[in-house]
Amino acid sequence: MPSDTLTITDNRTGKSYEVPIENDTIRATDLRKIKAEADDFGLMTYDPAYMNTASCKSTITFIDGDKGILNYRGYPIEQLAEDGSYLETAYLLWHGSLPTTDQLSAFTATVNANLPLPANFAGIYDGFGRDAHPMALLMAGFAGLAAAYPDAKNVLDKASRERQIFRGLAQAMTLGAWGYRFRKGLPMVTPRPDLSFPANFLYMLFEKEPDPRLVRAMDILFILHADHEQNCSTSTMRLVGSSQADPFSSLAAACAALYGPLHGGANEAVLKMLRHIGSVENIPSFIEKVKGGEGRLMGFGHRVYKNYDPRARIIKAAAEDVFAVTGKNPLLDVASELEKIALHDEYFIKRKLYPNVDFYSGLIYEALGFPAEMFTVLFAIPRVSGWLSQWEELMCDEDQKIGRPRQIYLGEGKRDYVPLADRK
Ligand code: CMC
Repeated sequence: MPSDTLTITDNRTGKSYEVPIENDTIRATDLRKIKAEADDFGLMTYDPAYMNTASCKSTITFIDGDKGILNYRGYPIEQLAEDGSYLETAYLLWHGSLPTTDQLSAFTATVNANLPLPANFAGIYDGFGRDAHPMALLMAGFAGLAAAYPDAKNVLDKASRERQIFRGLAQAMTLGAWGYRFRKGLPMVTPRPDLSFPANFLYMLFEKEPDPRLVRAMDILFILHADHEQNCSTSTMRLVGSSQADPFSSLAAACAALYGPLHGGANEAVLKMLRHIGSVENIPSFIEKVKGGEGRLMGFGHRVYKNYDPRARIIKAAAEDVFAVTGKNPLLDVASELEKIALHDEYFIKRKLYPNVDFYSGLIYEALGFPAEMFTVLFAIPRVSGWLSQWEELMCDEDQKIGRPRQIYLGEGKRDYVPLADRK
């Protein structure tokens, strides 16, 4: 008779154990009853880098990496990018359903009302140099919000969480724009309530009415980056959040995780790589170096996608619309040729390495007038909607406790302290 259980035989003892299977998963703690000796700790799983461990149950984002599918709350990313807006997407991620017209206008009004930073916040970056990396400024900004909003500590209070989520969603953008202006020695620009979220962002950066085609491209980029289930930064958000730290401290930590070049920092690294390659003739020798282990092809490969990242496809199409306004980014030819060569090369085919979201996004960002250092901030601003939705889900999840992995201790056994004078 088939049953939803797994039978495990421990060949050390000959004993068999039955553990339940739910959602194609067994609970790691069910393995603890498997012991060779009565006083053993019990069996654990060893999973560095969490290659095959589900850390939560979630209803937010679905990815099928083999088929190249990404859905937010069941809605395909292609449809959201085609017809939706970022704020609609942020509402969807948080609340689980698309907003009605009234819900969206109330939501938009509350986000807009939360755009201004706390009083006296403009001076927060003054201790930093103008060359400070904007991601470092963003992290400092979130830590600053933790100090400015002491009520954010009330993480068990739903109404307080809602207040903080609105602040986080809105002020991520204001902090991002402020970091850009600060580095240029320019004053902060006050957001305009009549502008859409992405239009306001471009306005707060460049202090002029943005072209609607560029606003739409920005909106699409925000939608594509809004969530991506349990990646490094989202897991960081959840891990720090599990200690019941306030959400701004958790956001600062999530930003730190995103900053790394293997994660959200890859978009900046891609542009540097394309500049380094310089022209199409240099691609073959660059590819040979990557295959020989000298660095990676940035913007390629993904832990989950073993197919074309659906976001990369949408970004490539959006790039055409941006270049129609701004003129073509000359590095596009290098990127397109690099992609073509890599996709036909045995090394990349065998390892299922395809372009990811970061491969083309930098080219658009550069055409929009952003310096490369800002690229990861442009990833972080919309990702705040995903991080906060995941945090809210965590706070409501009765299965969750403070995150605390185990280790396999392979160090010395107990030994006695040797006084300094007696050490050889
Ligand atoms: N260029 C060349 N070789 C690569 C690359 C790459 N970009 N990515 C993976 N490989 C090779 C790797 O050397 C290994 O080869 P071998 O089996 O011979 O040792 C094999 O492919 C498997 O790689 P891995 O490091 O075990 O794979 P991972 O799942 O741990 O890494 C990754 C995923 C995204 C960190 C990695 O593909 C990478 O470093 N890519 C470049 C950085 C990048 O574009 N990151 C952005 C990710 S998408 C945005 C986001 O979600 O943050």
